[in-house]
Amino acid sequence: MRKTLDPQREHWDIVYKSKPDYFGETPSEFARRALSFFKGKGAKKIIELGCGEGRDTIMFLKESFEVVAFDYSPVAIAHLTQKAKSNQLSESLTAMIHDARDGLPLTDECVDGIFSHMFFTMQLTEKELDFIFQECLRVMKAGGYNIYSVRNIHDPHYGKGIHRGEDMWESPQKFVVHFFSLEKVKRLARGYEICHISEFDDPSPTYIKKLYEVILRKPEKKKE
Ligand SMILES: C[S@@+](CC[C@H](N)C(=O)[O-])C[C@H]1O[C@@H](n2cnc3c(N)ncnc32)[C@H](O)[C@@H]1O
Repeated sequence: MRKTLDPQREHWDIVYKSKPDYFGETPSEFARRALSFFKGKGAKKIIELGCGEGRDTIMFLKESFEVVAFDYSPVAIAHLTQKAKSNQLSESLTAMIHDARDGLPLTDECVDGIFSHMFFTMQLTEKELDFIFQECLRVMKAGGYNIYSVRNIHDPHYGKGIHRGEDMWESPQKFVVHFFSLEKVKRLARGYEICHISEFDDPSPTYIKKLYEVILRKPEKKKE
């Protein structure tokens, strides 16, 4: 864990402590779509980045996936761990308090896919994002899918609040959000095949957000 104080990490801890199940108790619609996609591709072991309190993680576990879940908020990971325990799902879960900017502490090509809902849209510079996307590529098997959602530049909060550099703004609720253009999605897909990009509305608190849903594929190895 990074030694320097990260105000956003502190903020997520406070949010999850003061309002458990902040994003609700049921899985997101986005995760349900990803679930059926992963199932169709025969994926069994996935990573979830920025899992929060695990509303989506629990769904993947209930559907017999093995999940390695990362979040840098100790409160989020404690809530997820507790939920997995009470649902008797702990055996298939590895939950880690971990800052993704430090890379993914996993061996090469060890998972079938990667899922994240509103994680890459956090306070991460494009340089940090590029590094994390390359880490995802490294730990995924060839033919694996990186399915993610990010807030986009059509979102009502884009360009509002305090500017925090690049395409990031801090809302009055103190969340710093990185808003993606289509060009940014494409730039960050370095080394992947882009399978799908679409826009959708997400109703999670406290207003309707505009997001991109993106599916990237790690190319198969070329035959010598
Ligand atoms: C918008 S929330 C989404 C949570 C969850 N995916 C959901 O939809 O319920 C983003 C999550 O990313 C985590 N996060 C932000 N920056 C992170 C980083 N650098 N490393 C790991 N987790 C991070 C936050 O703690 C937060 O739980």
